[in-house]
Amino acid sequence: MVDAARDKHWISVYEDKAPDAVSWYQAEPEPSLMALKRLERASSSSIIDVGGGASNLVDALLEQGWDDITVLDIVAPALEVAKLRLGAKAAKVHWQVADITNWQPPRKYDVWHDRAVFHFLTEAEQREAYREALYIGLSKGGLVIMATFALDGPQKCSGLPVQRYDADGLARELGPQFRLIESWREKHVTPWGSGQEFNWCAFRLIS
Ligand SMILES: C[S@@+](CC[C@H](N)C(=O)[O-])C[C@H]1O[C@@H](n2cnc3c(N)ncnc32)[C@H](O)[C@@H]1O
Repeated sequence: MVDAARDKHWISVYEDKAPDAVSWYQAEPEPSLMALKRLERASSSSIIDVGGGASNLVDALLEQGWDDITVLDIVAPALEVAKLRLGAKAAKVHWQVADITNWQPPRKYDVWHDRAVFHFLTEAEQREAYREALYIGLSKGGLVIMATFALDGPQKCSGLPVQRYDADGLARELGPQFRLIESWREKHVTPWGSGQEFNWCAFRLIS
């Protein structure tokens, strides 16, 4: 899919559908919050939610007192949904419209969170560009929490083809600088009740 068609796809998703009418909707971002708690990430850490879209994760983080939050998405309407929902609290968040495969992080983050974004990168060059941004944007010792469709998960997400992973496959993709700390599976239930198998991994940047 060329860039313009891809942008158009995501713009229409966020302009045409209710936020809770997309397959990836979660009322509560429990798997992410549990992972941050289990991995003992304090709310004083900085965090970027890559491809965060209209996710409720930012609301929950603000609620927990996180005060250095960046939400990045490829299209502005995605972030507008979240900003509108948050009202005045939106001013506490750094909002970034960018294609993660074409973005030079201007600073480093302690936590890099990606739920259901990396799996859209079906071309090796896109994944290479993502890795570069990740490597530049993550602090040494920083944590990556990444969720993709599992090997037995759906072959498409939002109507687009995806690359599915298990923990070993994702570790191979990210390379030896990232040590796998933990992986787990989750069956996400869509708003219309079907199950989607996700593979979650936590990595630490070690070199
Ligand atoms: C399946 S949704 C997941 C949204 C959010 N992470 C969540 O869990 O609710 C994928 C999101 O990634 C964004 N996206 C897709 N490709 C992207 C890219 N190359 N760079 C940044 N964001 C991207 C889309 O606009 C969309 O918001």
